[in-house]
Amino acid sequence: MTRQRILITGASSGLGEGMAREFARRGRALGLAARRLDRLTELADELAPQAGQIAVTRLDVTDVDDVPRAFTELATELGGVDRVIVNAGLGKGAPIGTGHAAANIETAATNLIGALAQAEAAMEIFRAQGHGHLVLVSSISAVRGLPKAQAAYSASKAGVSALGQGLQAELAGSPITVSVILPGYIETDINRGVKTKLMTDTDSGVRAMVAAIEAEPRRAEVPAWPWKPIAAALRYLPDALSAKLV
Ligand SMILES: NC(=O)c1ccc[n+]([C@@H]2O[C@H](COP(=O)([O-])OP(=O)(O)OC[C@H]3O[C@@H](n4cnc5c(N)ncnc54)[C@H](OP(=O)(O)O)[C@@H]3O)[C@@H](O)[C@H]2O)c1
Repeated sequence: MTRQRILITGASSGLGEGMAREFARRGRALGLAARRLDRLTELADELAPQAGQIAVTRLDVTDVDDVPRAFTELATELGGVDRVIVNAGLGKGAPIGTGHAAANIETAATNLIGALAQAEAAMEIFRAQGHGHLVLVSSISAVRGLPKAQAAYSASKAGVSALGQGLQAELAGSPITVSVILPGYIETDINRGVKTKLMTDTDSGVRAMVAAIEAEPRRAEVPAWPWKPIAAALRYLPDALSAKLV
């Protein structure tokens, strides 16, 4: 089944922008949301000749009351929506209790509360139309609580993964499907300056994301190599080693 009408949040840069480009290349209709509307408009102008149709809207996912407005507006412009990719996310953070609570709380509000608000809005549309594919962009860091500046981020992404698992259990056998995607390091603004041999370049990472999403798995580590075995190891390694792998 081809998911023709796709809504992507966090489409103004990185993985969201890259996925918009890749789905446009495949002729899909797109609904794009993020706070930087100028970047979305530029992207829409560029992709319009390839994509079936493109609608954009400004959205801050922490403004939870505005999320249903944005999703309904985009779905109405596209004449329905077959897949929602909950991708907007933030990687701010600092060791807990060091005077940077605001950054950690903003990360949790964006990644977890924002994702919940998006799941609510998407599921309402899917339940009304009787079908849809919900994609939750989590992270490998959801597999194991990470220390220091990553603590709030990994906790927020663990929440996203659990949200997806709960929905999967509820929707088993229904025409609404849910995928939880766990990217490893893929080069984007979120990890500028991070030096690791495990980094995947943006284009390869985006291609792997789109391939994984199109397969509609319950859960996928992306790219599968090396992240599937790393995710498996992370569950059992002692703290001293697990922190070094992510
Ligand atoms: N790249 C990686 O290595 C990696 C690994 C694991 C998971 N992830 C996840 O992948 C997703 C995409 O991240 P990325 O790597 O592409 O990073 P990115 O280039 O920094 O993109 C993040 C996107 O999220 C949007 N965003 C942030 N806060 C928002 C808010 N409050 N409301 C609406 N949109 C918001 C940003 O748009 P505006 O600023 O315009 O709003 C931007 O388009 C995130 O959920 C991230 O946690 C990435």
